[in-house]
Amino acid sequence: MRKMKVWALLIAATSAAVLGSACGDDGAAGTGGGGTGGDVCAEVDCGGDVPTFASASLPWDLCTSCHSDSATVRQQNAVPDDSDYTTHAGVADRGELIAARVNSTGSDVMPPSGSTQLSAADKTAFTTWGCCGAPE
Ligand code: HEC
Repeated sequence: MRKMKVWALLIAATSAAVLGSACGDDGAAGTGGGGTGGDVCAEVDCGGDVPTFASASLPWDLCTSCHSDSATVRQQNAVPDDSDYTTHAGVADRGELIAARVNSTGSDVMPPSGSTQLSAADKTAFTTWGCCGAPE
């Protein structure tokens, strides 16, 4: 019983720390696990051309200033430490999450406000890629 309480406290403290580091986005509930990803992806037609990770239509350089291959840069920008978007391995498991976040109309939009925003074509490319299997 005693042990469980300690764990609960630890978990609460850890999540508070993680949430607190999200660039002052205190008010945002955040989609976290990509709750809106399903909605975004439900409308995507994967029967046409799906860009690959390496395709020039996906401007990863608008992400990797924060989602960097450098652990130091990731820390400085308070992005999750496993969110190195410079390789396919770093994004392969989060296609739908990326689709959800680039299409967000809330404060959890990616790139965050203040950074260079995606064009409509960029969003479409990330959405198709992310919703259609995040191919390499
Ligand atoms: C100015 C820095 C910055 C840029 C540029 C940026 N992000 Fe982020 N991103 C963050 C921060 C900080 C977080 C962690 C807090 C949060 O989830 O909102 C994050 C979190 C995320 C997450 C959820 C965590 C995860 O699993 O990776 C996704 C998805 C994401 N970003 C996608 C993108 C995409 C796609 C781009 C480029 C189109 C991008 N971001 C550009 C700062 C940035």
